[in-house]
Amino acid sequence: MAIDLDSILKKTLSEQAKLFTLVKDAAAKKGKQIALRGWVYRERGSTNMHFIVLRDGTGIIQIAIDKTTVGDKIWDSIKPLYPESSVVTVTGTVKEDERAPGGLEVKAAEVKVLFRGEPFPIGKEQSIELLLDKRHLWVRSQKISDVLKFKAALMKACREFLDGRGFIEIQPPLFTNSACEGGAEVFEVKYFDTKAYLSQSGQLYSEAVIAGNPLVYVFAPSFRADPSRTPRHLTEFWQLEPEMAWFDFEMNLQLQEEMVEYFCHYLAKSQPEILKKFNRDPKDLLAIKAPFERMTYGEAIEQLQQKGMKVKWGDGIGLDEEKVLVNERTQPLFITNQPKKIRAFYMKVNPKDPKTVQDADLLAPEGIGEIIGGSERVSDYKELIGRLKEQNLPEKDYQWFLDLRKYGTVPHAGFGMGAERVCRWLLKLDSIRDAIPFPRTINRLAP
Ligand code: 4AD
Ligand code: MG
Repeated sequence: MAIDLDSILKKTLSEQAKLFTLVKDAAAKKGKQIALRGWVYRERGSTNMHFIVLRDGTGIIQIAIDKTTVGDKIWDSIKPLYPESSVVTVTGTVKEDERAPGGLEVKAAEVKVLFRGEPFPIGKEQSIELLLDKRHLWVRSQKISDVLKFKAALMKACREFLDGRGFIEIQPPLFTNSACEGGAEVFEVKYFDTKAYLSQSGQLYSEAVIAGNPLVYVFAPSFRADPSRTPRHLTEFWQLEPEMAWFDFEMNLQLQEEMVEYFCHYLAKSQPEILKKFNRDPKDLLAIKAPFERMTYGEAIEQLQQKGMKVKWGDGIGLDEEKVLVNERTQPLFITNQPKKIRAFYMKVNPKDPKTVQDADLLAPEGIGEIIGGSERVSDYKELIGRLKEQNLPEKDYQWFLDLRKYGTVPHAGFGMGAERVCRWLLKLDSIRDAIPFPRTINRLAP
């Protein structure tokens, strides 16, 4: 029996949901009549034939409209159509067609324009700035839609991995009274009569919670007032931060490499189509295998010097140095035991070399650089007081954090991974901005 568009459209949206086919399910209905709805992705036509490529968020499919089949009334009602601005519903029979994108075509019986809209303000070759100004419209592009799907799968894989090992997800505050990762990069906000800071990391709070639930993680926004204009810095990004009681430096690194291997394999298997669209062979991800190579900070400095970089022991390893270390690599690399002086106050001192700490950064290959920062934590009260003093941090701001070392303190460790940096690596994105729907950077706060 023929499906009639008008009668479908008179029903409630929940009834309509059962009657419209999703594009991804159309292949299973070859030879049958179906109803589709969605946005016009592309369109072209001649005097008697019109083609619409329709997208509905699950795929794209070609609709062929023959003037003699649909009749003058429908034919005259459809034009003009504006790609991305116009919304249409269609009924017709699904056929295979090699020439059509996706290999399917629907021969239209009926077409109804639900919303004509206006000509879309984003054309084919647009500047990066315009795409950022029109981000509220550009988020519907294939590119950004695919990145968002991929990122959701990455987040799911990480949660699955950690949940499978007995972790629970917890929620730290995002308004805080002190900086976790150092003063200069913190956003200050007015908080009634006082000042608050936007959280740079949930870590300090997780360190409290692990005394009750020994394995926890946070997946939440982190804020950094970092003025860097680089392809890997956002002022607001999503950080995954596991924190583990009874974990030492070694166990911390092992958990990281196992998690990275897990999500790489998960994404290779679950997102091969998206990976290929971004010129990433899923096999590259299947090849990521723990354990990852480790290099101490001291070894890294020597290697950089040999390669002609002007760095000396005590300098920070920045983007340029990281690139030199991982440009030629295909596997991630840990840089361990950086100097105490340039690392956070909460990092445990390395017993074998007290000038350094028990930290590690995990650098992604192909010139990407840091995706994870982590460490074993100071669990001793006196040692922590000493570390705060060394770094001129006011003890009074860390009273509650010091308390944790007075009551039932145990060895513990944790790490933080930037979700957008991982997407940039795996999808070969030029900029980290494309790994988040509405990027926040030093010069962008809108839309
Ligand atoms: O190395 P970071 O600053 O470490 C921490 O915040 C620790 N408290 C984490 C922990 O041990 N729980 O940040 C961790 C990761 C980095 O490796 C990077 O992937 C990401 O967060 N990140 C950023 N991503 C985008 N834009 C920025 N401005 C970022 N800053 C850090
Ligand atoms: Mg770091």
